[in-house]
Amino acid sequence: MAQNNDRINQALQALREKAAGQWREFTGSTIPRIHIGMATCGLAAGAQETRDAFEAQLKKDNIQAVIHPIGCHGHCYAEPLVIIDHPASGLPPIMYQKVNEGKAVMLVKNFLKGNDPLLEHMYGAMEESDTIPAVMLFPRFNMEKRVIMDKCGRINPADINEYLALGGYAALGAALSLAPEAIVETVTASGLRGRGGAGFPTGRKWQFAAQQNAAEKVVVCNADEGDPGAYMDRTILESNPHQVIEGMIICARAIGAGRGVMYVRAEYPLAVKLVTRALEQARELNLLGQNILGSDFSFDIEVFQGSGAFVCGEETALIRSVEGYRGMPRHRPPFPVEHGLNGRPTVINNVKTLATIAPIIENGAEWFRSIGTEKSPGTAIFSIVGHVLYPGLVEIPMGETLRSLIFDICGGIPDKREFKAVQIGGPSGGCLPASFLDTPIDFDSLTAAGAMMGSGGMVVMNDETCMVNVARYFLDFTQKESCGKCTFCRIGTRHLLEILDRITKGQGKPEDLARLEWLAAAVKQGSLCGLGKTAPNPVITSLKYFRQEYEAHINDGVCPALMCRDLIAYYIDLDKCARGCDACVGCCPTEAIFTTANRKKGIDQEKCIKCGECRHVCIPLYNAVGKASPPGTVPMIEKPKVPVKDND
Ligand SMILES: Cc1cc2nc3c(=O)[nH]c(=O)nc-3n(C[C@H](O)[C@H](O)[C@H](O)COP(=O)(O)O)c2cc1C
Ligand code: SF4
Ligand code: SF4
Repeated sequence: MAQNNDRINQALQALREKAAGQWREFTGSTIPRIHIGMATCGLAAGAQETRDAFEAQLKKDNIQAVIHPIGCHGHCYAEPLVIIDHPASGLPPIMYQKVNEGKAVMLVKNFLKGNDPLLEHMYGAMEESDTIPAVMLFPRFNMEKRVIMDKCGRINPADINEYLALGGYAALGAALSLAPEAIVETVTASGLRGRGGAGFPTGRKWQFAAQQNAAEKVVVCNADEGDPGAYMDRTILESNPHQVIEGMIICARAIGAGRGVMYVRAEYPLAVKLVTRALEQARELNLLGQNILGSDFSFDIEVFQGSGAFVCGEETALIRSVEGYRGMPRHRPPFPVEHGLNGRPTVINNVKTLATIAPIIENGAEWFRSIGTEKSPGTAIFSIVGHVLYPGLVEIPMGETLRSLIFDICGGIPDKREFKAVQIGGPSGGCLPASFLDTPIDFDSLTAAGAMMGSGGMVVMNDETCMVNVARYFLDFTQKESCGKCTFCRIGTRHLLEILDRITKGQGKPEDLARLEWLAAAVKQGSLCGLGKTAPNPVITSLKYFRQEYEAHINDGVCPALMCRDLIAYYIDLDKCARGCDACVGCCPTEAIFTTANRKKGIDQEKCIKCGECRHVCIPLYNAVGKASPPGTVPMIEKPKVPVKDND
């Protein structure tokens, strides 16, 4: 055993020394380094164009610099995000936000060619210095606790050596020297709970699988991530795939598995590409494959592309889908740890769960327990979208409050609007009102509040959001994603949706509220899997906390948030309209805006399709386009019989 351990350590040491040498050469050079966030969020914001512009300008000015593609920092609101490390300038590495092609050209000309770092465009310095404020001074940075995302945005996800150089695969080395039972014990002692939604203790799951007497066992990484608005798992795979792969190998070692499956949705092509490359590189270095690092342990991982059904994230449906059948959940027991993929004992864990394993093995169970709360140790990652100033990915210790996350870290609600609600836990999560802002973020507190941790999707909503419409939106999603196996899920969600639909159209009936409550409870009870069991949650919580909104829709035909199209109308406030500005006239797609005798504007309600474009274009100085509910209450402006020409 000792000899074997020596062999493993030597093999790993050789890999790490080579990687560290390459890293030292890269970071120790005086040649400027331009780090560009090239994950999907960066690319969507134009990172490829930014990179092209840097390359072209460097060539034009004959400047030597290295472009270093990195993953996502989590600061999606600031993309394309660029860090310039220019050692000869004497300045620390500087992070720049929203670097479009023009800014890229300016940075080359002014900073790399000239000596002006264009501080007016920077976010902050990546290190503390006397010259430039560091990003770590901002709560969006310093209130985070990065365990899973520690290396995200620091390394090139396509280069295994960068992961190795920053300590990657050290945990695997340690795990290979341990008895499998000792790995399971450490994970159990850490208190880690699965990050895929249900929060099941990971150590216990591994233990069940380890106890199974089977010739073959399987480890599956669940990267299906079907929730609308959630993109944590995609980002991790696109920024640091090796940390997830390392977790899978350690799990395989602990339970005695020889086969691994990375189940990634096909709609994540960049993640699929980077994971595939990462697996090839791991294989080349014998971190995967036969006799890993010279040990007696062999394990390999294949990529399986799921094809976009939300229900395929449910573990038993996922298994069916990999087996080549239609993804449909089945009754449990038997659980996948007993009877999983092709009948083999199978551990299915979420991307974040697996990415937490290496830090636990490296730093110990006690260290992990020192973060977060007693029953929910560790960190939580949320993808926060909606009405916050700084949306993106945030990793925080469990136990942090919703208020602190939304207001202190994510900057609160923009445009001087009020917070109204937060939807936590994906489409089947709950909508919590302001009175729950001091709720700690952990598995049990969120469930007690009527929401759930889910996999980490979070949508923040301001006071212009109609909660009936939000419930309708999420139910529309879950209803379409129902696999159809259970009557209550298949038909019950449809009925719920029909009722919500007619309420948002002002056709609701007083008895609809009781009907919604009854049906929601029945769908929960009569459904087999988590999809049906949780689909009614947005209806239940919005009815509980925002009942008066439902009543206003039904009893008065009013949408208090002015959101439901059938219950609102746009109008022009003649006291505010600037004579002859005409901005709204040109933008209206149905030519509903007419000019009055004194060159002010009016809206022809017959033609108006309520797209709201006129409201967007009317500048804040005038702010002349208003909304009202019910539609009959808008001031009527008489349309001239003979059209007034704008240049009359
Ligand atoms: C409808 C539905 C969709 C799910 N989607 C996912 C998913 O995309 N990713 C995930 O990890 N777990 C998902 N789950 C939970 C999985 O069934 C399973 O509990 C999880 O992968 C276990 O991993 P963990 O122990 O690491 O949390 C879903 C469950 C349901 C009911
Ligand atoms: S609850 Fe819905 S999604 Fe789940 S098995 Fe039944 S019909 Fe399918
Ligand atoms: S954009 Fe505003 S100010 Fe300009 S004409 Fe239209 S309503 Fe009046």
